Amino acid sequence: MTELILAPLHGFTDVIFRNVYSKYFLGFDEAIAPFISTMEQHRIHSSKLREVLPELNQKLSVTPQILSNAPDDFVFLTSYLADMGHTTVNWNLGCPQTKIVRNKKGSGLIPFAEDIDAFLDIVFKEISMELSIKIRLGKKSPDEIYPLLKIFDNYPIKEIILHPRTGAQFYKGAADIEAFASVLKKTNHKMVYNGDIIDKKFFLKVQKKFPTITRFMIGRGALENPFLPSIIKNHSKISEKESLEKLYNFIDDLFNAYKELKRDEKLTGKMKGFWTYFRKAFKKNDKLFKKILLSQTENEYKNEVETFFSNARI
Ligand SMILES: Cc1cc2nc3c(=O)[nH]c(=O)nc-3n(C[C@H](O)[C@H](O)[C@H](O)COP(=O)(O)O)c2cc1C
Repeated sequence: MTELILAPLHGFTDVIFRNVYSKYFLGFDEAIAPFISTMEQHRIHSSKLREVLPELNQKLSVTPQILSNAPDDFVFLTSYLADMGHTTVNWNLGCPQTKIVRNKKGSGLIPFAEDIDAFLDIVFKEISMELSIKIRLGKKSPDEIYPLLKIFDNYPIKEIILHPRTGAQFYKGAADIEAFASVLKKTNHKMVYNGDIIDKKFFLKVQKKFPTITRFMIGRGALENPFLPSIIKNHSKISEKESLEKLYNFIDDLFNAYKELKRDEKLTGKMKGFWTYFRKAFKKNDKLFKKILLSQTENEYKNEVETFFSNARI
């Protein structure tokens, strides 16, 4: 059976988004939260931990993700997550952000096989949770993952989620499906496919190419078309009018939920960030979309969104 996982998108798929989204749209089976960084000297980001409290994530169950190259700090943080009731934690070996990569974290750690081996050795001895890994093909070169596959085979990793791009690529070019195929052949672990699932056609292509894969992760595709997981799962179709109504109510609810936390420019800035993805759910309407992007105050934003919807087609 196909299972769909909502990808961690830092700045987007936080607890507010996950809850509002799942109120309107079906199809995702679970989510991985955007990363929490470990801190030195046994300190923690309590607001980030709050985001993954199981009681705040009842609509869509969430697995926390940690960004770290320090096994002791990682173990320390997982003890909090285990106390909350989490049974799995995900380790981020994919983040491409320059500062993070320079600090040998995320995709920046991939070339350091010995460090990764030592990290896993300590972590698997110390933690009481299951561990999954989210990784790219490499930091700079798509071959960098291969030495790691042999190391990974020595550990009881729950699953490996592979986004087949290098960190240096960021999001440029296409996800390298052939590279995913060759990694799949060389690992004993369960794999999850992630990358560029933006429509059902591409999903079916990947599913056909990898008949043994049952779990797929979708990120940007779900922001660009919030109905996508439901379409993939063949839920019954709704009319254009109903779809527009749902999108309107979803975006309005999201605005109201963030309004409790953020004021004016920050709130409109946040929503405009979402709109750079949401706009793709609609038939092209650059003129009215630009007006949303130019809005500064809450009122301007709301008016432009009303105008956009009163002309919107999907
Ligand atoms: C804005 C943004 C933020 C992201 N934040 C994270 C993150 O916190 N942790 C992570 O593992 N991946 C992160 N990613 C990568 C996505 O989870 C995913 O691997 C990538 O977007 C490819 O999947 P997609 O084509 O379905 O979006 C981020 C991607 C984007 C675009």
